[in-house]
Amino acid sequence: MLDRRTVLASGLAAGLAASFSSPVLAAEADGLSKLAERSGRRFGSAVAWGKPGADRGSFANPAYASILERECSLLVPENELKWQWTRPGPTTFDFKQLDAIADYAKSHGFDLRGHTLFWLPEKWYPKWLVAHDFGAKPAEAAEALLTEHVRTVCRRYGTRITSYDVVNEAVQPETGEIRDTVVTKALGHERTLDVMFHAAKAEAPHAQLVYNDYMSWERTGEDETHMRGVLKLLEGFRKRGTPVDALGIQSHIRILKPLTVAELVSEAEGPWRRFLDEVVGMGYKLLITEFDVNDRKAPSDVAKRDRMVADYAKAYLDIMLSYPQLKDVLAWGMVDRYSWLEGFDPRPDKLKKRGTPYDANFKAKPLREAIASAFASASVQAA
Ligand code: XIL
Repeated sequence: MLDRRTVLASGLAAGLAASFSSPVLAAEADGLSKLAERSGRRFGSAVAWGKPGADRGSFANPAYASILERECSLLVPENELKWQWTRPGPTTFDFKQLDAIADYAKSHGFDLRGHTLFWLPEKWYPKWLVAHDFGAKPAEAAEALLTEHVRTVCRRYGTRITSYDVVNEAVQPETGEIRDTVVTKALGHERTLDVMFHAAKAEAPHAQLVYNDYMSWERTGEDETHMRGVLKLLEGFRKRGTPVDALGIQSHIRILKPLTVAELVSEAEGPWRRFLDEVVGMGYKLLITEFDVNDRKAPSDVAKRDRMVADYAKAYLDIMLSYPQLKDVLAWGMVDRYSWLEGFDPRPDKLKKRGTPYDANFKAKPLREAIASAFASASVQAA
């Protein structure tokens, strides 16, 4: 029997097929999640909250929602589970925006990931937390604060959230050590992370528990130190018996040098595979949690740039999909118009970034085709 989403998707797919001229693309008009399914995988995206009719990467924006419903089987809130949104104060919670996303996901048959129970850099804490007085027994107070947070979120969403980024970005890329923050200073660096994962295991035993970070395959000194730091962290989890199931690889991949794709890939691939091999060797699953392409140093010419972004992404995804431990691939938004990359790291020529699968006018780009063909040629079944 066809469910509502399949029917919807097939109607939209027909429209999409008609708008593509090449037979290969028409065959792929199934939707990225359908293509991902053939190798036992899933494809999804970040989504934002928005008022009805909002011009945002929101389910409340019909043009955006139709892309999500056609392409994705999995959603993740872009911001709405972060402490800045859910924790107006030390004893208060606000779930209005996350509830709206969770309701949309449920009514349209999407699975839902939880990003994130704790984003570790202090920069992203609500103001009150940075200034928080942990009192005479800071470790106990910090542990109670974190545990209550995990309990409240996990109990509210129950089995509706099937996978959590329990901790996001704990490793300082320049040093490879766990970051110093008001919380890690109060509770201890490793202890902060362990408390989070043990609390999540106790409150959401059904869920996949993920450590998420942005170490990336580009050959920069910082990424190498970052990778080493993450490996050390993952080894520590295993030694201490911390319940972590998977490494979330954000995958905000970047074109940082004026080189060809072949040159960029040939310097990145070997060390990156060695990193992934070590991670899976410790028994961790892998996820791509926040995929997009920062096209900072790619050519200004749009056609050339789109080609380069697509080819760079395809090379990366081919490597990632050669690992059966990788099951879920999530884009950090589907449409350039709403991409966080715009505000994050502008291009020197000030042109708009083109790092997501759809352009500002909701038209599929070569990047969408690259993701489709990476899934289509992925022979390895997800474990
Ligand atoms: C970003 C959001 O996309 C922006 O809207 C927000 O202003 C800042 O955070 N790594 C992460 C994500 O783990 O949570 C970040 O999301 C992007 C980088």
